[in-house]
Amino acid sequence: MTSARVSTAVLISGRGSNMQALVEAATDPLFPASIDLVIANRPDAEGLAFAQAHGIKTALVEHKDFADRQAFDGALLAELLAHHIEFICLAGFMRVLTPDFVACWAGRIINIHPSLLPDFKGLDTHARALAAKVSEHGCSVHHVIAGLDEGKVIMQARVPVMQDDTPATLAARVLREEHRIYPLALAEVVREMD
Ligand code: GAR
Repeated sequence: MTSARVSTAVLISGRGSNMQALVEAATDPLFPASIDLVIANRPDAEGLAFAQAHGIKTALVEHKDFADRQAFDGALLAELLAHHIEFICLAGFMRVLTPDFVACWAGRIINIHPSLLPDFKGLDTHARALAAKVSEHGCSVHHVIAGLDEGKVIMQARVPVMQDDTPATLAARVLREEHRIYPLALAEVVREMD
């Protein structure tokens, strides 16, 4: 018996390596989500080329074209509805979404963040982890709610912090774990959806 896969959009702002990990996981026909749309808010988002090369529909919704967050989120919503999207993964999407948009997608929008939440919400997580001299760092996949990086954590992965780490070496170690857990977390959440 086959069941319909959950039609998923990935929102990116740049490199898109987490989006790529999700796309690769979804090539398995048993993966419970299909990646059907990639939306970027910047025309130079490198991930757009990967998505296009893999036959995935892409959309560019440039935040600078809109007067305010509400108008930008309205344009995002229009793209998502036009493509019959059921679930959203934020993957390096560097825009804060409005509470109305988030409420509309409650339980159907998740994000990956490069820290062990609730530690180091926000930006520059690797430099801040090094400055705080933590011995472990990592990444979290979490539900998205109106408060930035505050939704319930779905899955985390830990990495050791080495004495000679720079933000770049630590980021690379964390990123490998991001690519491993994001597909696992997406599969877990969509399997639990009714
Ligand atoms: C990733 O490390 C992701 O966790 C982080 O941006 C990077 C995007 O890389 N996200 C955030 O900081 C969100 N606040 P990618 O474009 O290669 O996936």
